[in-house]
Amino acid sequence: MRKKVTVVGAGNVGANCALRIADKELADVVLVDVVEGVPQGKGLDLLQSGPVQGYDVTLVGSNTYELTADSDLAIITAGFPRKPGMSRDDLLAANYDIIRDATENVVKHSPNCIIIVVTNPLDAMTQAAFWVSKFPKQRVVGMAGVLDCARFRTFIAQALNVSVENVTAVVLGGHGDTMVPLVRLSSVSGIPLTELMDQATIDAIVTRTRNGGAEIVKYLKTGSAYYAPSAAAVEMAESILKDKNKVLPCAAYLEGEYGINGLYVGVPVKLGAAGIEKIYEIKLTAEEQAMLNKSAAAVQELIDVLKKK
Ligand code: NAI
Ligand code: 2OP
Repeated sequence: MRKKVTVVGAGNVGANCALRIADKELADVVLVDVVEGVPQGKGLDLLQSGPVQGYDVTLVGSNTYELTADSDLAIITAGFPRKPGMSRDDLLAANYDIIRDATENVVKHSPNCIIIVVTNPLDAMTQAAFWVSKFPKQRVVGMAGVLDCARFRTFIAQALNVSVENVTAVVLGGHGDTMVPLVRLSSVSGIPLTELMDQATIDAIVTRTRNGGAEIVKYLKTGSAYYAPSAAAVEMAESILKDKNKVLPCAAYLEGEYGINGLYVGVPVKLGAAGIEKIYEIKLTAEEQAMLNKSAAAVQELIDVLKKK
């Protein structure tokens, strides 16, 4: 029997997640959105791509959750972008209400699913979904590190004129400008980055990676990135649905790992049929640990605001 995925939010990221899932024939997809007609229209349009693209999965859209029943996986992309005049805390409050609604409905109809959260602010929203779902921590995971790493790898490959396939990179921490691209552990076919580039080039790439989301918002003006984010979320989905056990940087609930307790932060994890099957703890230098602590503190600030709600 085919797997089933709920995608909450039929906007830019959600619709592209649905498209990529169908293209890879990973699962049947139910798209849910609050805007009347949008998930239905996009679902039908995606379904009608099947004969051309050669996929047999079904795609359907809805404004309610009945059709999502017994999904294996839910990807939550519903949320507002930050608007002019809106503080970070305003956005946090608005998206928390959306995450709560989406999570409650996902859990009600698919109590055994795994949840991938995409909505920003990512680490805090993943923690909110964890609280609301009451799922074990293995079954709630956040997407950011795969995207941040993809940006880091892209810029490295561009600078060296090598295939992106040869570039491996590690990014830890929260999804924001405090993220920690780990230069020491990034390489090109095993050759350390530090042997291939001077420090100024590395520093410029690290800064560009940290600002990767903002760079695209500046171009698009009315929205944020969605092609790479949907590719990242679907890489995680594929690893779970096919039990591939890929090791990917994801937001995971830490309970003492890296000296961080009770917080979702980006770290390398093994993603398989049970969700987060293992958290990898890398031995960090004092400088790297300090950067990770700073990043975790930025996530903790948001969590403290949420706790008052
Ligand atoms: P979008 O505005 O294109 O789509 C969001 C959709 O959510 C809209 O169609 C809206 O109607 C829907 N929605 C709002 N409330 C809902 C509810 N209660 N239930 C169901 N649907 C609801 O935005 P886009 O570009 O798809 O981004 C979605 C979210 O993902 C944003 O919060 C964005 O910041 C975040 N994001 C996170 C990334 C990451 O690395 N974690 C990367 C890219 C985007
Ligand atoms: C990004 O990094 C907006 O979080 C989103 O593109």
